[in-house]
Amino acid sequence: MSGSYVIRDAVLEDAPVIAEIHERGWLQAYGHFITPEALAEKSAEKRIAYWQARIADPAVTVLVGCDPALGDSSTAVQGMVYGGPVLPHDMTSGSLDGFDSELYILHCRQSAQGKGLGRLLTAALARRFQAAGAKSLVLWAFKDNAFRGFYDRIGGRVVAEGWDEGQADIAYGWDDLNSLIAACEGATNTANRADTA
Ligand SMILES: CC(C)(COP(=O)(O)OP(=O)(O)OC[C@H]1O[C@@H](n2cnc3c(N)ncnc32)[C@H](O)[C@@H]1OP(=O)(O)O)[C@@H](O)C(=O)NCCC(=O)NCCS
Repeated sequence: MSGSYVIRDAVLEDAPVIAEIHERGWLQAYGHFITPEALAEKSAEKRIAYWQARIADPAVTVLVGCDPALGDSSTAVQGMVYGGPVLPHDMTSGSLDGFDSELYILHCRQSAQGKGLGRLLTAALARRFQAAGAKSLVLWAFKDNAFRGFYDRIGGRVVAEGWDEGQADIAYGWDDLNSLIAACEGATNTANRADTA
């Protein structure tokens, strides 16, 4: 694995690999506390139609990160990010006031983790939102999630707490997309960034 990735818009043919990466990401990050029923809902088999609908929806954005060494089709997809307008959330404290875009889902294959792909996907989504006029970004992560450190590392500040799928969760916000993009791209070899946005 080269660690050099290309970010592009997802196409309908990517739905099965996105569903697979989503399911595996859930198992890795939340398998220790999520109920078997909730995990079953994320199974790749059930989720292909879900992802096809998101990829086809112009109101949201689904990007994939590919390893060019593995070709240019779905087989090269190593990670995905999905986002769009800020969605209503069951909140117990804090506020999402002023935030105008949301990262909903971000997962990288286990074999691709720790190589900068999460940073690249997050920056590409932020750039896409910025091009559409957004200024800020928020995302929700389960509190009991060993990967939350990624969002701390790229400068997220805790802005709210809430509840999702029977689990406590926490919202990270960036008031300025420029600061998020800088935090993501600052430690990345820009030669590796080939975003289509
Ligand atoms: C979380 C995730 C998207 C991060 O992507 P990644 O490609 O592995 O992360 P990167 O290589 O871009 O790392 C960026 C920085 O975050 C840090 N980081 C990554 N994961 C971290 C963690 N679990 N705890 C603390 N810091 C972390 C890295 O050390 C790196 O910092 P550095 O550049 O100063 O060394 C990815 O690991 C993943 O898909 N995890 C499993 C699924 C998941 O948890 N998804 C998010 C749910 S909220």
